[in-house]
Parts: sequence; C-alpha cells; structure tokens
Amino acid sequence: MKQYNIAVIKGDGIGPEIVDEAIKVLNTVGKKRNIQFNYKEYLMGGCAYDKYADPLPQETLDGALKSDAVLFGAIGGYKWDNLPRDKRPESGLLRLRSGLDAFANLRPVKIYDELCEASTLKKEVVEGVDLMVVRELTGGIYFGKPRENLKDKAYNTMVYTKKEIQRIAKVAFEIAQKRRKKVCSVDKANVLEVSQLWRETVIEVSKNYPEVELTHMYVDNASMQLIRDPKQFDVILTGNIFGDILSDEASMISGSIGLLPSASMGGSVGLYEPIHGSAPDIAGLGKANPIATISSAGMMLKYSLGENEGAKLIDEAITKTLADGYRTGDISKYGAKKVCSTSEIGTIIANNI
Ligand code: IPM
Ligand code: MG
Repeated sequence: MKQYNIAVIKGDGIGPEIVDEAIKVLNTVGKKRNIQFNYKEYLMGGCAYDKYADPLPQETLDGALKSDAVLFGAIGGYKWDNLPRDKRPESGLLRLRSGLDAFANLRPVKIYDELCEASTLKKEVVEGVDLMVVRELTGGIYFGKPRENLKDKAYNTMVYTKKEIQRIAKVAFEIAQKRRKKVCSVDKANVLEVSQLWRETVIEVSKNYPEVELTHMYVDNASMQLIRDPKQFDVILTGNIFGDILSDEASMISGSIGLLPSASMGGSVGLYEPIHGSAPDIAGLGKANPIATISSAGMMLKYSLGENEGAKLIDEAITKTLADGYRTGDISKYGAKKVCSTSEIGTIIANNI
C-alpha cells in the first residue's frame, strides 16, 4: 500500500469544515486506490496567532516542508483585522507560500455544464470555458521592499527579477503545451517598468516554445475580456496581485467562488487550497461549499502525488454530484434538487467516488 504524509492546515472560519470534507473524500479515494494518507494537523492564521502570537509557527513550516503535500483551508477573520500586518493571518499564509517556495499558483477555471445557469454571465458566454490562471505567488508587490506605512504616507514596491519572471513563464508555457497551446501574458506594460521587464522576459522565454502562441494584454483590458469572452483564454500568465484580482473575477464565470481550487508549486512541497477566503460570516453553520477544497485535494493527487487516477475519481464524483442536483446554498438557485449542508455534500461526493 502506498502511503503519503499530508500536512493539514485547517485555518480559520470555514477552513475546518471544508478541509474535513476534503479528507473524507481523500480517504474514500484511498480505499478505492489502495493508498494510505497520513494526516498531521498544523496551525496557521488567526488560530495560530491566538495560541503562539505568530500566524505561522516554525513547527507549521517545518511540518509542511517535511510532508509530501500540504492541504490548506482558509485563514482570516474580523477578530484579527486590526493586528499589525506581520501578525495578521494573511502574513502567515504569505510566509508559508514563500517558505515552500511555491511560486507557481495554478488556478483552473472550468465550468461544470450543470452550473452554466449559476453564472451571472449568459450561458452562451460561459458554456465550455476552460482556462488556467498561472499566478506568480511569491514575488511582486506582495513581497517587494521597501514597504512601509508612515501614517502620513505609505508605500509598497512592485518588484520582479528576471529570474522570477523566467521561472513562472516557463511553468505557464509548459502547461499550455499540454492544453490548447495559448498563453496570454497579462501586465501593465504601458505604465509600469516592472511590467515592461515582465513582457520582455516572457517574450524571451516564449522562444523555447515555438508551438505555443503568445499574446499580451494589459490588465485592465484582461479584466474586461474575461467577462466579455472568457472562451478566448487558455493559459493566463500574470503576476501576484493581478492574478489575485483576475482569479476572483474568473471564479464568477463558474458561478461561485466556492468552486475554484488551486495548486501552488515550485519548491519541493506543493500547497493546495481553495481560492476563496475564510467566510467568517458563515463559519460553523454548515453552509460553506467544500467543492473548491475537495477539488484542490484532487489537484494535490495529480500534481504532488502523481495519483492521476485518484484525481480523476474526484473530478468525476464532483461532476456527478452536481449533475444529480445536489447543491450547497451558494449555487442552489439553479437546478437544485436538494440543498445540502457542507458535510452532506461532502458525503455525497465521497459516496460517488
Ligand atoms: C488568495 C487570497 C490571498 C492572496 C490572501 C488571503 C492573502 O486572496 O489566495 O487569493 O491575496 O493571495
Ligand atoms: Mg485572492
């Protein structure tokens, strides 16, 4: 029997409930595929701050680095909103991403046919959308120095080295090669020097991938094109903050932010998390949609553990569950035969494995 050690970081808000469902589904995959998952839980975010006055205790980073993959829920909440920046839950997550050197964040946007009507966009616009946002995750304005809040003025620095751009561009082109062979690089090269270097470097890297078509788009235009005609995109390659914004926007194509998974890779250990936050307003109520997290567990099987069959089982089980009309509240307006709680839908997905 194969065994994998999974570092589990449930986090804050709805984090624990959605991760529990992902574990339920993983265990069912394990039974079916003869795999044993050994889970070890670690604290990060507000819960870690409450216990250790540090949103990313060393033990968590060490544990993550020793694992085969990290499964993560969400962090943050009102309670910690007024802490100094380096104590906030979000700082814990940023330090974890950086500590794992998880510079390549893959955010696939796929529309489940059953949910075409759940999008606020027209069915004909969203039907068949299948794109991947490749977001640089450990650089850019999130990490750039100098940064400071001097109270009468504050600043951040958007900085990318050529190396950082090269390595994320390479990831995007390699993914595109296995898809529809199109990369659209998104920047703001008409205004920002950092984007000019981004664009020049992406063009250089593209020379190694002659079969992939490269286009460029300014981020303002890209945000418009994403809702005007999302089907034009295959792989969107972009920096940290633009990718943060565009991936939230892209999630609305699919109907709910509760559906979109992500994989963050680059270092020796991958990190898997839904793209959404901790939704403190519905925490503990059993209303959260666990599909993004379950689907992230599927990405973990595929990208970190090489268990492609298991990943396929998860995808198919989610699709069947939606096709059978089971929905959580966020997507319940359309085609719902039964509105389920977080754990109910998790169990149905697990049973469909
Ligand atoms: C995301 C989130 C994070 C980010 C926050 C929680 C720091 O919005 O994963 O998209 O900005 O990267
Ligand atoms: Mg975000």
